[in-house]
Amino acid sequence: MNRRHFLAQVSAMAILPTVSFAGQNPLRLRAEAVVQQILPSGNPATAMLGFNGAMPGPALRVARGAAVTIDVENGLDEGTAVHWHGMRIANKMDGVPMLTQDIINPRDTMTYVFTPPDAGTFWYHSHYISHEQVARGMMGPLIVEDDIAPDVDHDITVMISDWVLNEDGSLSDAFADMHTVAHGGYLGNYARAFLSAASVKLGDRVRFRVINAATNRIFPLAVTGANGVVVALDGMALVEPRPLTDLVLAPAQRADLIVDITGPVGFDMLLRQGAFRLADLAIEGANSERRQSPITALAPHGLPAPAAPTQHLTLTMMGGAMARGHDGDNIWAFNNLSDLPQQPFGSFSRGETVRMTLVNDTAFPHGIHLHGHHFFEVGDDDALGDLRDTTLVEAGARRDIICVFDNPGKWLLHCHMLSHAVGGMRTWVNVA
Ligand code: C2O
Ligand code: CU
Repeated sequence: MNRRHFLAQVSAMAILPTVSFAGQNPLRLRAEAVVQQILPSGNPATAMLGFNGAMPGPALRVARGAAVTIDVENGLDEGTAVHWHGMRIANKMDGVPMLTQDIINPRDTMTYVFTPPDAGTFWYHSHYISHEQVARGMMGPLIVEDDIAPDVDHDITVMISDWVLNEDGSLSDAFADMHTVAHGGYLGNYARAFLSAASVKLGDRVRFRVINAATNRIFPLAVTGANGVVVALDGMALVEPRPLTDLVLAPAQRADLIVDITGPVGFDMLLRQGAFRLADLAIEGANSERRQSPITALAPHGLPAPAAPTQHLTLTMMGGAMARGHDGDNIWAFNNLSDLPQQPFGSFSRGETVRMTLVNDTAFPHGIHLHGHHFFEVGDDDALGDLRDTTLVEAGARRDIICVFDNPGKWLLHCHMLSHAVGGMRTWVNVA
């Protein structure tokens, strides 16, 4: 690979490790060093971090409403912690060192026990020096099965990330380079998607669970060879499925698609220079019982309906390159404060509905993630929009969100561009 040529084409098929957890309780994740073929075959493999010998880690498939026990063993020579991104679970299982738990030290095991309240597409990732540990590969899909699965032939996970690779296949270790932190963050020179299947049949109806696991890159996506709709965002069913156009995923965001296969499938990142192929899915045979039924919405979510907001807070993103200064003592700040302040940004009583205006007063987009809750994006018409756990706010733009804070505890609120988070764009809220 020539490093100057940003993002060479993927030639080899990338398949997610399929680990069956049937009947296994507890589940077991071992954080450890792994070697993964990231570049197309024929190029050097990459020494990185992962879980259970693989990067991405195994897809965990769990049932909604049933307690799941996951033993996380730290096989690294540094601390770690695992966050179950998007899961509305008990605060002490949220995986955030300094806020909800102690670091898991090398050779130690922490047992996470939680009951997933929502069916959908989630993921897990390191939440300790995460701008580095996630960039090195500590991520995997976390799927909460539907009570009644939609009528599809395949359920395929598509985990996308990017990496800063040297010509020998090794990862660049400039994870916290000041210049990149102050700009768009640690952005890969190579990207691809890992799929949980290698082929489908022509005419199959397929659910794709697309996860952007990149630390900083926003992916504008297109899917070829497939005709269908978006049925969920960030794990939450859309009331009305919507056309599969203008699909953009910020870091940590997910989209569930249900499509009918019309030809060889390609997942493309849309760049100014053209489409860059992230993964291919081959056609093997034809489905003789093609579905004629329209694709319908997934079962609705069970989140509480918001009441009239009792607080309206403003969170202003500040700092970075090409912006005015701020009073925080790191590169980025929220409301003039960098990094986790002593006092929470917001204090809410359990069940309170809160409106927040997220103001992006910087020269870069930010994907703002709230732990332990989903929130509604508020449209220009003031109507409740999509339910999300991470919302993308473009440079110079603002967005209102409305959240029912019904999950007690200390919850992180941060930019999921992990370079910006380590650069100071982090705060927290308290729900009591
Ligand atoms: Cu996906 Cu605070 O994390
Ligand atoms: Cu950011």
